[in-house]
Amino acid sequence: MKKNKVLIVANWKMNPDTYAKADKLFQESVKIARQAKKTELVLCIPYPWLTDFSHKKNQAVSFGGQDASINQSGPLTGEVSPKMLTGSGVGYVILGHSERRALGETDELISQKVLASLQSGLKVILCIGEGFRDDHGEYLMFLRNQIVNSLKKVQKKYLKKLIIAYEPVWAIGKSEAEAMKPADLHETSIFIKKILAEIYGQELGIQVTILYGGSVSPDNAKDLISLGEVQGLLVGHISLNSKKFGELLKNIDSI
Ligand code: PGA
Repeated sequence: MKKNKVLIVANWKMNPDTYAKADKLFQESVKIARQAKKTELVLCIPYPWLTDFSHKKNQAVSFGGQDASINQSGPLTGEVSPKMLTGSGVGYVILGHSERRALGETDELISQKVLASLQSGLKVILCIGEGFRDDHGEYLMFLRNQIVNSLKKVQKKYLKKLIIAYEPVWAIGKSEAEAMKPADLHETSIFIKKILAEIYGQELGIQVTILYGGSVSPDNAKDLISLGEVQGLLVGHISLNSKKFGELLKNIDSI
């Protein structure tokens, strides 16, 4: 991540549903990125269009995949390899998103994906997040296990390319009122850094970029970053709405 910049990752998921709409959204997103002063924007676009847009050699935005294989080539129908992404000008990949975990992806599989992508030179946006919060703090154990198990094979040398996206599943795809409160996010971001420091040592652990995701909107973005103590945001449905997404980046400029 560029120094002093906030990292905004737009996760388009399986949207929009036509090339024409995707191209329009892409042009609008580039325009928004050009106007933003404090933001580095990564667009995670569905595979049919990703490399078409990434080959336009655009300077204003970076590109990300929404998943990648653990292998670099071979008889794996439907899979896309990390090497294919780097070879197409794609610099980032989201791994372990809760919507993929819900399809059956385990920490073990995700840890293999994380390693393969890092070894290929991609920056990995590793998603973690609890399904719900209990009163006894068991969700903290859940988060700890997710982090430790998903990073099992990741050595220190890769940490500069690792980004942790904390996305509490209960806050995804909802209204702004249901997003996490900045004070709670602050506690959790400290907790995540503590786990990373336990694994990789204090100095390296606290340098890992942490993002928040889950119903981020133009109105809560600024507080989530500045009071939540995260270095950026993973934005889902609002990134499909250029007007709101533009407002979101503009509000971040005023931090
Ligand atoms: P949302 O999605 O912003 O629509 O909640 C975030 C995500 O799932 O990455």
